Amino acid sequence: MLWLKVVVISVSVYIVVGSRDFPPGFKFGAATAAYQIEGAWNVSDKSPSVWDKHIHAHPERVIDVSNGDIACDSYNKWQRDVEIARELGLHFYRFSIAWSRLLPKGYANYISEAGKKYYNDLIDALLEKGIEPLVTLYHWDLPQSLQDLGGWTNPLVSDWFADYARVAFSLYGDRVKTWITLNEPVMYCDIAYNTAVLAPGIYSPGRGSFLCNKHSIIAHAKAWRIYDEEFRPKYNGKISLANQIAWLEPATEEDIEITDITRQFLIGMYSHPIFSKEGGWPPVIEKIIAEKSKKEGLNHSRLPPFTQEEIELVRGTYDFFGFNYYTSRTVATAKEGDKIGPWPYTGSSDIGVHLTVKPEWKSAATKWFFIYPEGLRKQLSWLKKVYGDIEIFITENGFASYDSGLDDQDRIQYYKDHLEQVLLSIKEDGVKVTGYTAWTLIDNFEWMDGYKSKFGLYQVDFEDPERKRTPRASAHYYASIIKSHSLDVDVNVKISDEL
Ligand SMILES: *[C@@H]1O[C@H](CO)[C@@H](O)[C@H](O)[C@H]1NC(C)=O
Ligand SMILES: *[C@@H]1O[C@H](CO)[C@@H](O)[C@H](O)[C@H]1NC(C)=O
Repeated sequence: MLWLKVVVISVSVYIVVGSRDFPPGFKFGAATAAYQIEGAWNVSDKSPSVWDKHIHAHPERVIDVSNGDIACDSYNKWQRDVEIARELGLHFYRFSIAWSRLLPKGYANYISEAGKKYYNDLIDALLEKGIEPLVTLYHWDLPQSLQDLGGWTNPLVSDWFADYARVAFSLYGDRVKTWITLNEPVMYCDIAYNTAVLAPGIYSPGRGSFLCNKHSIIAHAKAWRIYDEEFRPKYNGKISLANQIAWLEPATEEDIEITDITRQFLIGMYSHPIFSKEGGWPPVIEKIIAEKSKKEGLNHSRLPPFTQEEIELVRGTYDFFGFNYYTSRTVATAKEGDKIGPWPYTGSSDIGVHLTVKPEWKSAATKWFFIYPEGLRKQLSWLKKVYGDIEIFITENGFASYDSGLDDQDRIQYYKDHLEQVLLSIKEDGVKVTGYTAWTLIDNFEWMDGYKSKFGLYQVDFEDPERKRTPRASAHYYASIIKSHSLDVDVNVKISDEL
């Protein structure tokens, strides 16, 4: 009798505990990007990128008039970054290669020895500690020499990128098994060209943004096909791109249709050509832009069409869906006087919508960031519904604060709330989520927010020439989740220098 009782209790305990476990094989990591951490913008033969040029020309556009010249000095302090990845127990570390560090001329016929060595050393050190390197080829830092020829608005950029990708696969593909071609084209195309705030600082709304969009998708597809044909047979890795998506929710019942259209505009433009069965632009958007262009007296749509050959080139060029999630918006048809605000408001003028937030969504420490954890789960379900039962890898998620202190309970809450939604998505909704990436490993140069908004699991002292890194409470929390492979961990974490 007693024995039976014990068994029953232990079974029920097992179920409760088990429901907060992540599936076996689920991977945890953290991410960074070259311009945001490396510094050493002008060492050896590295050439300037569009971010070097843009911020040197317009320091006033960054909140604290700072730049990435030194940043976290990870070009020199990378061994400490690897140690941090090990302290956290990361399964993988996602970092990006600076194109202009590896190929200073932009083109593939000259490889920098120093650049090649830097990434070789980093990859080898990670593997030595049992951490998988996950490499992004493009995290916004185009070589300025290619920008001078039009950058992402020049159709030839897709070949320049494909050549660069082949060099990276040849040099590192034996050890790097997961690749991201492009990070968040919606940011360096839509937001960049619709506002001129982000590099390259060119204002060309509804023109430059669409050219950049199309050429990015073709560049991604060419790199994917090169990997698929020349490298996959020997290295057997995976490759895709990472899209940032804000969950969009109708403001009222009357806004359901316009919300669907807005999703196609902000998500579909970077996903439909690759992940849908039919490929090409989302038909509803193609139609809207064609009609608007006609009304504007143009004989050609501002949205450059895909040829049938291009549609076939691009369609199906993925091994998983890379999904960056931070924030959500509500969608309503725009009325007179509605402001176009910071992204993801920006760029929605072509479809005439007003994006705002619910009053109960708390804001984080940057003007675009409102917190809605359920948005992550809803977006995962939407992706499954629209693109099928594909593997989804969360390539970024994290929290911004202005407080640079170590006791970051707000960040712990953000991670807890979002990881709960990931678990629900896997267990209740049957979405194939296979990995989660915290943004970010260490405080870094956060683009137009400079060093003011902090995303790091580790604090970086930017006053210290050594750029000392110290774990925050959230680092302890994340490490314990990884260690137990479960959300059943103590949220009351103590801070200490040692992790
Ligand atoms: C590199 O840039 C720094 C400013 O970040 C400057 O002080 C230094 O002189 C430059 N070095 C070279 C070799 O141009
Ligand atoms: C558009 O095409 C028509 C017919 O070919 C031509 O008459 C007209 O001038 C063109 N308009 C523009 C803006 O090029």
